[in-house]
Amino acid sequence: MTLKRLSDIPGPRTLADQWSMYRRRYQMGHALREISQNHGDIARVPIAGDPKVLVSHPDHVREIMVSNSQYFGLSGQDLLRRVVPWSLIAIEGQLHDEHRAMMLLTLRKILTRRILTTTILRANQALSKLRDGDVIDLYQFSREVSLAIAASLLFPAEAGDEIVSGIDHKAFLDLMSQSNAWFLGMPLAFQNVCLLADLRHNMKIMATRRHVRRQLTDAIKSARSLSRSGPDADVLSLLTDGSEVGGAMRDEFLEDNLLTILLASYDTTANSLAWALWETSRQPTLQNRIADEGSRLSDNPADNLEWSNGAVWTEATLQESLRMYPSIWATSRRTLSDYRLGDFLLPKNTFVYTSQWVTHHDPRWFTNPLEFRPERWEPESTPEAGGGTEKPSDARLQFSFFPFGGGKRFCIGKAIFDQEASLLLGSFFSRWEATQIEDCRPEPRFGVTLQPDRPMLARIRKRRPKSEA
Ligand code: HEM
Repeated sequence: MTLKRLSDIPGPRTLADQWSMYRRRYQMGHALREISQNHGDIARVPIAGDPKVLVSHPDHVREIMVSNSQYFGLSGQDLLRRVVPWSLIAIEGQLHDEHRAMMLLTLRKILTRRILTTTILRANQALSKLRDGDVIDLYQFSREVSLAIAASLLFPAEAGDEIVSGIDHKAFLDLMSQSNAWFLGMPLAFQNVCLLADLRHNMKIMATRRHVRRQLTDAIKSARSLSRSGPDADVLSLLTDGSEVGGAMRDEFLEDNLLTILLASYDTTANSLAWALWETSRQPTLQNRIADEGSRLSDNPADNLEWSNGAVWTEATLQESLRMYPSIWATSRRTLSDYRLGDFLLPKNTFVYTSQWVTHHDPRWFTNPLEFRPERWEPESTPEAGGGTEKPSDARLQFSFFPFGGGKRFCIGKAIFDQEASLLLGSFFSRWEATQIEDCRPEPRFGVTLQPDRPMLARIRKRRPKSEA
């Protein structure tokens, strides 16, 4: 069979299509989904510069991320190299493998030692500030508590508090919402024009980044002089000491990786938790089920190690939040040489987008994909309940749901997220009932991550103990 060429791949490609894509860049997930629905599992994406292709079938996603990942390199690395050149997300090959192994070991230590105590402490602090009858922004609540936890895991106490207090939340969030796959896919010169076009705003973002960087440099200096490893060590101390994680990390890698993890863990966790809180706020039965599970949490952190195993509704709600609102809603790679994908031959340097948003909302894999249905994650779930239409054992199902990516770049923080988010969700609903404020309709905004486009307003009421209800 003769292979079809790039020009044969269906999809929009005229200048008018490019203009329309630019105008819809913060609704880019919707635009990509339409492209996939109208043009199939391999389709052209109308963005200027090197050719761009959207790949939506789980088999192809697995091929790109796992089985043939050696034929794909990072894309958008011009920008990454400018912002965090030594971070895991910007390096490749052996350097990436070595640093990834070190970071994985470090996070594993954090997971077994610090995460329960830190999360429960910070959750209690945040929950104790809430007042009966208040209208709160669930997104702001999620952001503040996730940032406090991220800082406590990453830094020694004093440095963590200082970094959190110095962060301009708005500028930090703008950093994540301002650029997206559209922006990263543009030629570098065009990116510069875009940055210049919004100079004042971008200067504020750069000032925040400089500020956080200065604090990181100071924290690293102080950690090097103090050497604080030990059973309760934080990420920075473990990496500067090096004795437990295969060697001490050099300063330039350390600073870029800490900045990446601070952003990656704070922003993604906050988004996923916020959408879970929001959707649960309109489902009283689900709230009661999560509250029931949360009421089994102990004040002694160590007793909660196995808690999430029995918290099926809490877990299912978080899974559904990751399916319906995947914080990382698209990832992209670049072909390192000509590459055969399906019936097509992609030339070297083609951008290949895989989109969690598109694939997670495909009715072939999830029935009624636009409905928030935690019950689809029950082990016995049927297609009618909204579960995948494939058997869970099928390898394909793994890549119809891939919120944490796959293969050699699979998220290193998944286990941290799982622990942290379930404890937070369970603790929240075990103490509070929440009801959405009418007319408040947050929609996803497709920046680097998927954030709500406005506050998520809900009224909270103290939950009465079961015996009084
Ligand atoms: C809801 C929470 C999270 C989601 C949805 C998420 C999603 C992802 C995805 C999709 C990737 C792969 C990107 C790619 O293939 O290009 C990734 C990588 C990564 N994530 Fe996460 N993440 C989350 C939480 C975290 C946390 C809590 C941390 C740190 C503690 C973290 C640190 C990282 C790092 C460092 C990478 C780069 C790994 C590498 O390139 O080797 N993430 N994440």
